[in-house]
Amino acid sequence: MQTIHVNTSTAYEVQIGQGLLTSAGEKIAALSHAKRVMIVSDDIVYPLYGETVTKSLAAAGFAPSSFVFQNGEERKRLSTIEALLEQMAAEHFSRSDLIVALGGGVVGDMAGFAASIFLRGIAYVQIPTTLLAAVDSSVGGKTAVDLSRGKNLCGAFHQPRLVLCDTDTLKTLKPINIEDGLAEMLKYGVICDADLFAKVKNYRNEDMEALIARCVEIKRDVVSGDEFDRGMRQLLNLGHTVGHAVEAASNFTLTHGHGVATGLAIIARAAEEKGMAKAGMAKEIEDALIACNLPTVTDFDPALLAELTLSDKKTDGDNINLIVPLAIGNTVIHRILKAEILDFIKAGM
Ligand SMILES: NC(=O)c1ccc[n+]([C@@H]2O[C@H](COP(=O)([O-])OP(=O)(O)OC[C@H]3O[C@@H](n4cnc5c(N)ncnc54)[C@H](O)[C@@H]3O)[C@@H](O)[C@H]2O)c1
Ligand SMILES: [Zn+2]
Repeated sequence: MQTIHVNTSTAYEVQIGQGLLTSAGEKIAALSHAKRVMIVSDDIVYPLYGETVTKSLAAAGFAPSSFVFQNGEERKRLSTIEALLEQMAAEHFSRSDLIVALGGGVVGDMAGFAASIFLRGIAYVQIPTTLLAAVDSSVGGKTAVDLSRGKNLCGAFHQPRLVLCDTDTLKTLKPINIEDGLAEMLKYGVICDADLFAKVKNYRNEDMEALIARCVEIKRDVVSGDEFDRGMRQLLNLGHTVGHAVEAASNFTLTHGHGVATGLAIIARAAEEKGMAKAGMAKEIEDALIACNLPTVTDFDPALLAELTLSDKKTDGDNINLIVPLAIGNTVIHRILKAEILDFIKAGM
């Protein structure tokens, strides 16, 4: 098992290892005086792992109940949050009680947001069950739901009390969900760790627990320096600026990681085309994406992608911050005029 210490406004541990679900109750009891625990999960994850977690919580002296919703991004909405909050109120949850998020990023984002607003804020624990949630969404305290005008438009910063990543749960994931996580892992490598990048490309022969831990460390380091996303945390958006546009253009039929992969390939080629990046870098990134069964190109019109990129919430005034790789392991924030974005995207396509 690997333990990573996160030092944000609240300090917590991320534990990564096999079989952690069975000791979830005991681990949570060591840091919480809660009586009631609400397990928030979806209708794929709960049937697989809900019983193990429930039993473990009950054995540790908690009174667990559950809120299970239909899986998928479509349910990451305020209406689901409202139903969850109503159930917690009806079951007399108090301020010292706890939410446990058991699932992927959709479950984690929603459970965390509900925890941030129920009775003006209660504690929650993340138990990520997708690779993407393990390396990315379960750490860092960003919680949110979607609005009809866009993803994650309504949310809060609220750090979890503990993150338990049981690597055994990743065995039931579909290949596409593994690929989504790999895209984010390659992203961390391109941002600041060439060695990690090489290992993720070769992930089938690597120790996955160690790779997840390294990604969490990188996220921890970036987030501790900029918890509220006003500066360097933007580096984690590498591949996301154009990636989100690709996702939106596909009407979200393309998954997040696949959008990020395409966005990463586009920005890498653009950086090289513009003479900013080391020659050969884009090819290296494309090869790694292909090795992970991820896309590197898209047929969408560059003008449409530019328009969607500019309608993203992360622009300010006349400028937009592009996250640009200069070499594997070295990425910078590069401010350009909004008017230049189309040119950049064209260069990358
Ligand atoms: N808060 C953050 O910092 C942050 C960062 C990145 C992404 N996100 C959010 O995360 C979400 C995407 O997360 P995701 O990719 O985990 O999606 P997800 O939660 O929808 O999970 C993908 C699918 O896998 C299923 N699943 C989950 N665990 C499983 C398991 N162990 N075995 C079998 N099936 C399993 C789910 O039911 C779902 O159908 C998006 O909403 C995104 O906005 C948040
Ligand atoms: Zn992402």
